Amino acid sequence: MNERQQVALALQKVLPDLSVEEIVVKVERPKDAKNGDYAFPTFFLAKQLHKAPQMIAGDLVDQIDQTGFEKVVAAGPYINFFLDKAQVGGQILADVLADPVNYGSSDLGKKGNVTIDLSSPNIAKPMGMGHLRSTVIGNAIANILAKVNYVPVRIDHLGDWGTQFGKLMAAYEMWGNEEEVKKDPINTLQKYYVKINTEADEHPEYDDLGREWFAKLEQGDPEAQRLWKWFREVSLQRFMKIYDLLDINFDSFNGEAFYNDKMEEVVSLLEDKHLLKESRGAEIVDLEKYDLNPAMIRKSDGSTLYLTRDLAAALFRKRMYHHAQSLYVVGAEQSNHFAQLKAVLSEMGFSWSDQIHHIPFGLMSLNGKKMSTRKGNIVQLEDVLNDSIKLARQQIAEKNPTLSNADQVAEEVGVGAVIFHDLKNERTNAVDFKLEEVVKFEGETGPYVQYAHARAESILRKAGHPSFEGATLTVDGQEAWEVAKKIGQYQETIMRAAKEYDPSLIGKYALSLAKSFNQYYAHTRILEEDDQKLSRLALVQAVSDVLKSALALLGVKAPDEM
Ligand code: ARG
Repeated sequence: MNERQQVALALQKVLPDLSVEEIVVKVERPKDAKNGDYAFPTFFLAKQLHKAPQMIAGDLVDQIDQTGFEKVVAAGPYINFFLDKAQVGGQILADVLADPVNYGSSDLGKKGNVTIDLSSPNIAKPMGMGHLRSTVIGNAIANILAKVNYVPVRIDHLGDWGTQFGKLMAAYEMWGNEEEVKKDPINTLQKYYVKINTEADEHPEYDDLGREWFAKLEQGDPEAQRLWKWFREVSLQRFMKIYDLLDINFDSFNGEAFYNDKMEEVVSLLEDKHLLKESRGAEIVDLEKYDLNPAMIRKSDGSTLYLTRDLAAALFRKRMYHHAQSLYVVGAEQSNHFAQLKAVLSEMGFSWSDQIHHIPFGLMSLNGKKMSTRKGNIVQLEDVLNDSIKLARQQIAEKNPTLSNADQVAEEVGVGAVIFHDLKNERTNAVDFKLEEVVKFEGETGPYVQYAHARAESILRKAGHPSFEGATLTVDGQEAWEVAKKIGQYQETIMRAAKEYDPSLIGKYALSLAKSFNQYYAHTRILEEDDQKLSRLALVQAVSDVLKSALALLGVKAPDEM
């Protein structure tokens, strides 16, 4: 039972006409600690009870059973609840220590599958910072959903099909050098692609060449197929390096090409339902009633589009995974595309179209500048991660020169810093990325939270990792209480993050718990030999466990020393 429920239960006993569930949603958390830990507004009862709210509050307080509370008082129309800190706090600690791994879990999801379309970079191009956002936001949402008992299915919907590959092949045929590609595949292919695009202004025939090559690919021409397979393979190898650094695993790498032979079904279903209309040789679905542009399904030359492939993918996913929800973690610039996807599925009569959610996010800039890959102005994710690791390594060398596994820790800190920076911001905000800010050990950073965790671990090491079994734990003093109270809010924070698909709630939670803990730590002699020592260490242990768990939800490691 959490504290909010404890409050609701006490209220329900004196408000028998209401259920605990009805009461629990009315219980508020006052901003100012002098108004108690929880407050219950009585306005909504006035009509029913024919009394002024102030009177209702006063009367109810007289009847409420105060056990388990330090005090319960009326304050105008509110009833303020002050928890019995020692007892409630002790219970929170006991709950964490009994099962640190599952602390904060709940059963919102009831084991329902949720497909999550994330990362999904385009082959033969470097993975940029935009894909970083999708990757880390998508992965964190997957972790959060797993914690509330959904089963996440991570899908990397690779951009491995489309007319741009025709151009790339045309470029390779003109200027390509196998050795050069083998040495540095992605950058070399990118170079060819940029070259053909830049020169196409003067050589309009390049566009035709590109179309020809793509047609060859679609018709199964062996040379086109060979090149495509090769480009895909070397690209995926590079992407894997980044996924390894981020420690992210996927359940499927079925990209756009996988749906090539599954689009006829989509087209014929649309035909059967008389949804296809002709418009200047192309086939479209009218979406006027959704206030959207018509969805183009097939171009006049018969080729299909990004949207057609997403329709086929949506059908495939529903059949394959019977999902309860289907998420697409893709930049806000594709909002219209996903609105169309959902609308077409709904027109097709699929009631599950309402399970589809586009999870948009804002652009990421670097040192205040926009990033783009089309013109070759590339910021490579791998470079950013490696720079961040280097910077973390330098800081560790200064702060903790004798650390034995410094390289591994530097990787966990450097990579964690980049991930955390992305996730502490509300998804839809644009974020600017300045490496020096991101890897700082102070301020609102990943390393700050990791450092609080490492500090807790260091105390526990000094204390010889005591056992808390059978101990009666209490919480002593306001600062300890602030820490324990935050720990007690972990579960509801995760549930909210899961419902709102918002990892930043976990990022902010971790920062705030780390801050409260540092304040406590600065004013408390934790290792002092007195009868509260074990309880203080239990608090430290619980902080360490919950910080580690919260960071893990974000996909960030928590080294024991740094
Ligand atoms: N490859 C696309 C891009 O980089 C993102 C794909 C997103 N997923 C999807 N099912 N459309 O813009």
